[in-house]
Amino acid sequence: MVYLMGIDVGTTGAKALLINEAGEVVVSAITEYPMYTPHPQWAEQDPEDWWQATAESIRRVLAESGANPNQVVGVGLTGQMHGLVLLDKDDSVLRPCIMWNDQRTGSQCAWITDKVGPKRVLQLTGNPVLPGFTAPKIVWVREHEPEVYEKVAQVLLPKDYIRYRLTGEFATEVSDASGTSLFDVGRRHWSEEMLEALDIPAEWLPECYESPVVSGQISQTVAEATGLKAGTPVVGGGGDQAAQAVGSGIVETGLVSVTVGTSGVVFASTDEFVVEPEGLLHAFCHAVPNKWHLMGVMLSAGGSFRWFRDTLGRMEKEIASLIRKDPYELLTAEAARTPVGSEGLIFLPYLTGERTPYPDPNARGVFTGLTLRHDKAHLCRAVLEGVAYGLRDSLELMEDLGLEIRQIRASGGGARSDLWRQILADVFDTELVVINVTEGAAYGAALLAGAGAGVYKNVAEACQQAVEVVQRTEPVKKNTALYGEFYPVYRALYGALKPSFDQVSQVVAKSATGGTE
Ligand code: XUL
Repeated sequence: MVYLMGIDVGTTGAKALLINEAGEVVVSAITEYPMYTPHPQWAEQDPEDWWQATAESIRRVLAESGANPNQVVGVGLTGQMHGLVLLDKDDSVLRPCIMWNDQRTGSQCAWITDKVGPKRVLQLTGNPVLPGFTAPKIVWVREHEPEVYEKVAQVLLPKDYIRYRLTGEFATEVSDASGTSLFDVGRRHWSEEMLEALDIPAEWLPECYESPVVSGQISQTVAEATGLKAGTPVVGGGGDQAAQAVGSGIVETGLVSVTVGTSGVVFASTDEFVVEPEGLLHAFCHAVPNKWHLMGVMLSAGGSFRWFRDTLGRMEKEIASLIRKDPYELLTAEAARTPVGSEGLIFLPYLTGERTPYPDPNARGVFTGLTLRHDKAHLCRAVLEGVAYGLRDSLELMEDLGLEIRQIRASGGGARSDLWRQILADVFDTELVVINVTEGAAYGAALLAGAGAGVYKNVAEACQQAVEVVQRTEPVKKNTALYGEFYPVYRALYGALKPSFDQVSQVVAKSATGGTE
């Protein structure tokens, strides 16, 4: 028996997971760490916290599984993308990591876009320069912390800092590098043009591998600290979304995943580097050699339903705690009694602004079409339907680029609800399936380790062995037809309301500063 380890340096904690070669999860463990917000819109973490948590999770997984370290034949890394870790010439961390959800770099994004030209940025990097991405953070440090900037010798992404601690190597891989704005995504290497334009030394960046390629070995010190065997290969791994897609078997065209967590992510594998002309979808290298991926991110998917539960669903929450049930189950049971299409009530799920297809922080949530007939159950169904329409927006952008969508694999909390799965299948008019594993990105990283360590021939074979469809939801034609009529109405509402969203944001900002702006 051999084992593979996946490590996910996530936003809330570091997870380690052990699978056997059949792809069955043996044990997983997560150790949490804090996030710091020293200013509004900032988000930082201490890389030392990641390391301590990673080592702890590895120790727990090895102890609980009873696996012999000799049997762990490969380690794969994944993690939160886009974060900036800076090291000096002695390899010491210079400042806390500036994370993916940090919003401080608006003006640096504008400067980079202006310097390189918006079209050229899109051509080279597959994406517009977004505040969460890495390059604008480097520019921010240059502008605001020159005393730090002058000491920089190495730039790393979060999981790659952990790779350095595990192996002593400075390395990354193509999927995570794609989210830096410094990577030539079409050619799968660092972009000299971007680096030169931004005056960032190429020597600061680590060696970049394909995701299943071995990038280093577990060091002797780490072996003593964690229980892993010295010399165990560590593969490139992948950014969390690409690794999660590998873990769901999204490694060929035609298969798309929809993950309904707090946010909603629509992910498609592509055989070529395809860019949405307006940059509305992310275009990154996939964690599969010679493949790319397109991705749409909706900010409040499951988050919209949680908001509904916490505001209008308080009674269900209390009842649920008394009868030991899940409040979401009670709420969806009520919603299931209302007709498909919520009798014309439509919800726009922009509760925290939006990213795809409207990169607009001012967008707001809306219920439209209320009548006296509508009650709480209608509102609940409308929320589930509105999220499905929002996810369909990303699918439509993909189809507009000529992508065929054969099967959609649903995961995340939202996929646990029978009603929501049916709504998604009906709104998408595509078969929706659920697969056997729900361990997310760490699981995909373990499969990548298996491909790199030779347990599987390649990533596709790893997925074939491990990933299995366990449940299918077919669209109901009658429902699909009705949703097909409501969807254009939903689609038109954002454009119609955009001026109001902007106006409301201005008024709210003014009243928050006591009318002084
Ligand atoms: C991907 C993205 C998130 C972060 C944190 O573009 O922003 O997935 O990697 O999970």
